Amino acid sequence: MTKEQKGTSRRRVLGGMAAAAAASFVPARFAIGQSAKLKLGIMLPYTGTYAALGKNIDDAMRLAIAEAGGKLGGREIEYSVVDDESEPAKGTENANKLVIRDKVDILIGTVHSGVAAAMVKVARDNDTMLIIPNAGLDAATGALCAPNIFRTSFSNSQPGFATGKYAAETKGKRAVMISWDYAAGKESTEGFKEAYTAGGGTILKELFLPFPQVAFQPLLTEIAAIKPDLVYAFYAGGGAVSFVKDYYAAGLRKTIPLVGPGFLTDGTLEAQGESAQGLETVLHYADDLPNAKDKAFRAAFKKAANREADVYAVQGYDTGQVLVAGLAAVKGDMGARKELVAAIEKLTVDSPRGKFTFSKAHNPVQDFYLRKVMGALNKYENVAAKALGDTAKGCKMA
Ligand code: BEZ
Repeated sequence: MTKEQKGTSRRRVLGGMAAAAAASFVPARFAIGQSAKLKLGIMLPYTGTYAALGKNIDDAMRLAIAEAGGKLGGREIEYSVVDDESEPAKGTENANKLVIRDKVDILIGTVHSGVAAAMVKVARDNDTMLIIPNAGLDAATGALCAPNIFRTSFSNSQPGFATGKYAAETKGKRAVMISWDYAAGKESTEGFKEAYTAGGGTILKELFLPFPQVAFQPLLTEIAAIKPDLVYAFYAGGGAVSFVKDYYAAGLRKTIPLVGPGFLTDGTLEAQGESAQGLETVLHYADDLPNAKDKAFRAAFKKAANREADVYAVQGYDTGQVLVAGLAAVKGDMGARKELVAAIEKLTVDSPRGKFTFSKAHNPVQDFYLRKVMGALNKYENVAAKALGDTAKGCKMA
């Protein structure tokens, strides 16, 4: 059975239920929409190097739903939550716990691209709606794109590309790239390389460590010996804290500028302290954007979670906003799949990062900002890339 046929037969079943409901003078939508709880399956890291990222996504998503009255399309919500530990080897089993065992209506997750790859496969195989609130795995909105898969964050090559353009223009033409050896690190550095070499730059060396290792010392020694004009680094969460501190402690900040996508300094500044001050990064968010939506969101998140918001919280909040708007459009009727997908495709999301729309491949088309660390903030400097999409390479929507 094709995905389309599955959708059709589900609607036929609902049609049958509607007829039965009409016969007993109960409106079908009311019977379906208001009685059963909507099941949300949340798969995020709550432990390990990406734990803080997962927690912020979860808290902010629930905040957006709470602000909308605590229901989706008029239906109460039942949450099933799995800690995926950023462990790709457990990805399929964990996603199946939610999709097969708990029979969730919508799957939400995750942070780590390797785990997201398993979620994408499970969502495609079972035709389950999936919203990705962080993982940048390019293929999710590329070769593996599908009508039932949306992403509210970015594709890995997007911020890498935006940083490459800026670095070639301002920091010199000889770069070393360093990252973790998994999809996010590879795709982020590829994005950087594409824009940086197009801008006349040369990549002298690519250095990788297995995820989530933080034994940076030998690689920093190698960088010091190469003496590039700049270093491009993709790290996030606990790994970003360690890398920025080690780079500073090795004395490299004085002679070799460090650039990267803003994951390097987002949600990490308190732990990085002095070592992050003055760092310039590029991301689809900054801590002091001049828009009212962001100010209101940051205040509400601080009140709800008792900590400062960051890009991960923004992506979680927008996932909640997409759920609220999408389910409202179909009045909570998950059988109206085509209508649900069409409603989300048409959204302009009023995000704290600035308004964004979805590309045909279901990835945000959004602005990327140059930011500079000053005190406890990633302060907005200027727009590094306007309305940047992703390549959506190989995406053929069914
Ligand atoms: C990823 O694995 O796609 C990812 C993880 C943390 C930050 C950004 C991307």
